[in-house]
Amino acid sequence: MSIVEKAVAKLKTLPVESSAPIPDEPRPQQAVPTVERAQERARESAQPVITAAPSHVDIKALKRIGLLPSDDEAERQLSDELRSVKRPLLANAIGKGSETFARGKRIMVTSAEPAEGKTFTAVNLALSLARETDYEVLLVDGDIPKSDVTHAFGLSEKPGLMDLVADESMAPAEVIFRTDVPNLLVVPAGKYHPLAAELFRSRRMEHVLDELDGRNRRRLLVFDSSPLLATSESQVLASHMGQIVMVVAASRTRRQTVTSALRRLNELQYVGLLLNMSRLPAAESYNNSHSYYLKALKGGA
Ligand SMILES: Nc1ncnc2c1ncn2[C@@H]1O[C@H](COP(=O)(O)OP(=O)(O)OP(=O)(O)O)[C@@H](O)[C@H]1O
Ligand SMILES: [Mg+2]
Repeated sequence: MSIVEKAVAKLKTLPVESSAPIPDEPRPQQAVPTVERAQERARESAQPVITAAPSHVDIKALKRIGLLPSDDEAERQLSDELRSVKRPLLANAIGKGSETFARGKRIMVTSAEPAEGKTFTAVNLALSLARETDYEVLLVDGDIPKSDVTHAFGLSEKPGLMDLVADESMAPAEVIFRTDVPNLLVVPAGKYHPLAAELFRSRRMEHVLDELDGRNRRRLLVFDSSPLLATSESQVLASHMGQIVMVVAASRTRRQTVTSALRRLNELQYVGLLLNMSRLPAAESYNNSHSYYLKALKGGA
């Protein structure tokens, strides 16, 4: 607890989360939205969407590389944890019973240091939000150097966020890839650019983000990112967000490190701290098959 006490103090003034339960549907993995449905949605939102066939999300492969829980029990546990994580995020984004945050539909998952579980959290949070049938989720790979989301979803050869920001002639629809998971779309990282931080700070970036989310009321953006203390582009990316999920590796990340990362954020954002990689008390009885879990330490409460 002491790791986050100071950080949480910074957040005390934030609105209280809605306590309304959010139903979670079982994940339909094989339903393939048709091209017609994509076109209809594009018309509805007056926003261009790529109408190519949806790319297949290989759930088994995601499990193999550790981005999804490996067994049913771990999946159930994570699903429960994520319900309490996403409840305040949804309330802040779309205002169910509480005040919305400016840019609240832009949610960035980050951490102070490498390997704290950002990508794992971003992917699972995006899938969990996509199960809310009223919304669609754009999972954006904002970790330009590592691009783990891009690789995991088999989009390494595709244009992405960095290309869109660097090239004014490109349209957002060129980097949005529909998947065969209902309500889930992915924006790959794109090619590395040596001026990534400067481009992320540019007016073009704000325009791009507006285009990605601005005109579509039912779209949420979930960004994976590089560690806040490791790259300046991550800090710049954070400055465009309305909500930050700060992943903290339990028993590993030092309090000063978390505090230092939190200082990089601005006061107007909702910041939720998420304790990750904390062993369940009952883990031994499951033969350590799920030695990690997620816990919302701060969710506006
Ligand atoms: N809650 C969790 N349950 C199970 N495995 C997890 C969990 N969180 C992280 N991991 C595992 O820990 C490793 C690091 O996680 P991840 O890649 O998400 O970290 P990261 O913060 O994105 O790292 P990087 O800074 O290198 O991008 C991965 O192998 C992932 O499978
Ligand atoms: Mg990562």
